[in-house]
Amino acid sequence: MRKKVTVVGAGNVGATAAQRIAERDYANVVLVDVVEGLPQGKGLDLAESGPVLDYDSDIIGTNDYAPTANSDLVIITAGIARRPGMTRDDLLKTNMGIMGAVVGEVVRNSPDSILMIVSNPLDAMVYHAHKLSGFPKERVVGMAGVLDTARMRTFIASELNVSVEDVQALVLGGHGDTMVPLVRYTTVGGIPLSTWLSQDKINAIVQRTRDGGGEIVSLLKTGSAFYAPSAAVVQMTDAILLDKKRILPAAAYLDGEYGTSGVFVGVPVILGAKGVEKVIDLELTPEEKAGFDHSVEAVNELVEAMANL
Ligand code: NAI
Ligand code: 2OP
Repeated sequence: MRKKVTVVGAGNVGATAAQRIAERDYANVVLVDVVEGLPQGKGLDLAESGPVLDYDSDIIGTNDYAPTANSDLVIITAGIARRPGMTRDDLLKTNMGIMGAVVGEVVRNSPDSILMIVSNPLDAMVYHAHKLSGFPKERVVGMAGVLDTARMRTFIASELNVSVEDVQALVLGGHGDTMVPLVRYTTVGGIPLSTWLSQDKINAIVQRTRDGGGEIVSLLKTGSAFYAPSAAVVQMTDAILLDKKRILPAAAYLDGEYGTSGVFVGVPVILGAKGVEKVIDLELTPEEKAGFDHSVEAVNELVEAMANL
């Protein structure tokens, strides 16, 4: 039997993720949104693409959760996106309310599912969704690290005029200005980045990675990135539903790893059928650890702000 994926939020990220998952042809997709007609229209349009692109995935759109029952994976993209001048943190209050409305329905209808959170501010929303769901920590994960790392890989490949396939990178920490691109673990063809580029060039790439979301927002003007985010969602979906045990950066619950507890933040994890099957606890230099701790502090500030809203 095909796996079942629910995507909540039929906007730019949700609908594009639903399209990409349907095209993988191994899972059925239910697209949910509060706007009447929007998920139904996009779901039908995606279903009608199947005969042309040769996929048999069932895709439906709905405004209620009954058709989502017993999903294996629920991807939550519902929420407002950034507009120019807005930070991810400005989204906190609105998206916290939306998460509250969505997670209860998801838990009632798919109590054994894995939750993948995409809505921003990412790390705080994963924390909130985990708390609301009562799910074990392994079954709640946030998407951001794959996206931030993909941006860094893109900039490096472009600077060196080499294939993106040969660039490996790693971005830790919260999905925001304090994220920690780990240059020491970044390689091109297995060779450390520092042998390829000057420190000034590396610093510029690190900064562009940190600003990667904002760069797209200021170009689009009416929303935020969705092609690369939905691609990142699909890489994580493959890892979970095909039990690939990929090592990917994702927002996961820390329980002593990195000397930190009680927070969801970006770290490398093994992602498979059980969700977050292991958090990989890397050794960090004092400078990297200071950057990571600073990022955790920023995430914790948002979590505390949520408690006071
Ligand atoms: P969008 O505005 O295109 O779509 C959001 C959709 O959520 C809308 O269709 C809206 O009707 C729907 N929605 C609102 N309340 C809902 C509810 N209670 N139940 C179901 N659906 C509801 O926004 P976009 O571009 O798809 O972004 C979605 C979220 O993902 C934003 O918060 C954005 O900041 C975040 N994001 C996170 C990324 C990451 O790396 N974690 C990357 C890109 C976006
Ligand atoms: C991004 O990084 C807006 O978080 C989103 O593109």
